[in-house]
Amino acid sequence: MSTATAAVTQPKPAVKMPRVKAQEPMLINGKWVASVSGKTFATLNPSTGEKICDVAEADKADVDLAVKAARKAFDDGPWTKMSASERGRLIHKLADLIEKNADELAALETLDNGKPYSDARNIDVPLTVKCYRYYAGWADKIHGKTIPVEGPFFCYTRHEPVGVVGQIIPWNFPLLMQAWKWGPALATGCTMVLKPAEQTPLTALRVGALALEAGIPDGVVNVVPGFGPTAGAAITSHLDVNKVAFTGEVTTGQLIMKAAAESNLKRVTLELGGKSPNIVFADADLDAAVEGAYFGLFFNQGQCCCAGSRLFVEDKVHDAFVEKMLKKAKSRKVGDPFDPATEQGPQVSQEQFDRVMSYIDIGKNEGAKLLHGGSRVGQRGYFIEPTIFDGVSDSMRIAKEEIFGPVMNILRFKDIDEVVKRSNQTCFGLAAAVWTRDITKAHRLAASLRAGTVWINCYDVFDAAAPFGGFKMSGIGRELGEYALHNYTEVKTVTVNLG
Ligand code: NAI
Ligand code: MG
Repeated sequence: MSTATAAVTQPKPAVKMPRVKAQEPMLINGKWVASVSGKTFATLNPSTGEKICDVAEADKADVDLAVKAARKAFDDGPWTKMSASERGRLIHKLADLIEKNADELAALETLDNGKPYSDARNIDVPLTVKCYRYYAGWADKIHGKTIPVEGPFFCYTRHEPVGVVGQIIPWNFPLLMQAWKWGPALATGCTMVLKPAEQTPLTALRVGALALEAGIPDGVVNVVPGFGPTAGAAITSHLDVNKVAFTGEVTTGQLIMKAAAESNLKRVTLELGGKSPNIVFADADLDAAVEGAYFGLFFNQGQCCCAGSRLFVEDKVHDAFVEKMLKKAKSRKVGDPFDPATEQGPQVSQEQFDRVMSYIDIGKNEGAKLLHGGSRVGQRGYFIEPTIFDGVSDSMRIAKEEIFGPVMNILRFKDIDEVVKRSNQTCFGLAAAVWTRDITKAHRLAASLRAGTVWINCYDVFDAAAPFGGFKMSGIGRELGEYALHNYTEVKTVTVNLG
């Protein structure tokens, strides 16, 4: 069944491999340090399952030190006394340094995460740079209002940084998730403690080094690699952390909200999972819809929170659509992510590989029709064939639960009211897409779909200026755009007696 090539592990000479230390330290208060316990953990190359290097493993004691550093930088440091425009200049400098080191960062991301180097270099890194530049521009444009209150009073508001921010990010877009968290936090003048995902700690540490090089003062950014139940939980329950921003699984989000509630009511923003409907009407440009649905599901090995994983196709065009989609999936090149021809690399970890393979079994057992794929590629690493299920019904688990892998589920529909209803029958609400040439229908759906983002005749269009986040169990709050700034500021009301 497999048309994909086996996984190759040797990088092509065209890409210069990044240098990593045998043991990577963590970043606390501008210094590179070992963990208090002396413990380390291995980060693996998902193309081979082999160790890349060991990384200092943070636990509660390290998080305490990092929070202390961030608190000091917030309370006494030059950072919060610096002019807003100077802060913006430093963020610009960080963006410039990331751009200057784009090849190295992309290679490091590919090594640690497994995504194709061409994606890391042409998508992840440029979006990361643009995100920092966007927020650099905001730094000196964050301000309050004057308010015409009754009486001889002058009333105004200040938008002040929320304080020390804990940030916990996942492994699917390590550089970009760091930028989504650091961009608005730096722009508003917060200080931060970031825990990268245990699967992909390397680029976060490298960007930490670039932040120091840019002149961002000691203690403003701290990077503490480690595991969720230890380092992550220490951040979310910390009494001196004012806000936590999280991206990851719904159940982890629930734990984080609980920890925040039970500690100090720290502010919480969550960007969680999805089961996003992607709706193809018979009046759509079919080739464009196939292209968009293919990208919207298989991009990043299917490891996207907003993946179009419920693909609703109108009855009338179902067969034609499936034929075109199959042709594309069959030609998809899976293999060595450093090979420029590769379109799909390995899943990030053995755990994710097992999880995706188990969903493929579930789909078969539920009676969905496996049109293509379904198997492992190669003998080592975590490669999975692009997989397509047809004849999927709403009640199947593969249509309800987040798979987070290269598994496409095709569902049929007959009319617009039906598809809106079925699309919204989910606990999630992250994204949705509609493919049609009928502008009235498109806007009607945009208003009816209960999701934080609706793409019309496109998919996965991201811009640092456009807010992103979930309805329902897909999250709380918005990232990116001006909207993200609200989550990193407190509003202070000042009233002056003029009488
Ligand atoms: P996860 O939610 O467990 O991990 C994400 C981050 O949270 C990591 O940095 C992890 O160390 C941290 N974490 C885990 N438990 C924690 C805790 N108790 N307290 C504080 N931090 C904690 O996600 P995981 O296990 O890596 O992936 C499982 C599934 O989650 C995936 O298959 C996918 O369905 C979903 N997911 C969604 C993502 C998204 O972008 N919305 C990203 C990653 C995973
Ligand atoms: Mg987990």
